Amino acid sequence: MAIRTIIEIPNPILKQVSAPVESFDDDLRNLVADMFETMYDAPGIGLAAIQLGVALRVLVIDLQPEDEGAEPEVCTAHEGHEHSHLPHRREPRVFINPEIFNFSEELAVYNEGCLSVPEIYAEVERPSRISARWQDLDGQRHEAEIDGMLATCLQHEMDHLEGIVFLDRISRLKRQMAIKKLEKMRKAA
Ligand code: NI
Repeated sequence: MAIRTIIEIPNPILKQVSAPVESFDDDLRNLVADMFETMYDAPGIGLAAIQLGVALRVLVIDLQPEDEGAEPEVCTAHEGHEHSHLPHRREPRVFINPEIFNFSEELAVYNEGCLSVPEIYAEVERPSRISARWQDLDGQRHEAEIDGMLATCLQHEMDHLEGIVFLDRISRLKRQMAIKKLEKMRKAA
């Protein structure tokens, strides 16, 4: 496993349309392992393979930022030397070749961010409930109705597969302001 470099806007790679995964092999497992490691390190809650420069329809999501605000728990697993540590609450999810086949009319607004658009947040409106199907690392097919934060996150990540970032979904004026802010921050850094 390795932490890879996250590609940021305006790198044109992020505008590529990603291709379906056909081989559920060790290369795919390694890619997904690196995606999780990179996402947790960033830290972020979702990542598409194209953000690492790999144009495949692969997403990872974990809505549980590990340990954040968690109270230490006493660990009794090691007899004789009781100690406390932070609970592990990771909830890793992998979506390969995801598709949405139903959208609710009802919309939800979330303040979105993106590891490819560092430090910038903007409210984006998306369908609040979706029906999605996808494959897992073994190629097994899954289908579910999804709502809440996961519905928003999955739609945000699926946009990356089409070469779309969340800034493309806000008004031009807001987008220009966000890009200016990002350029300013980069200069200051
Ligand atoms: Ni993103």
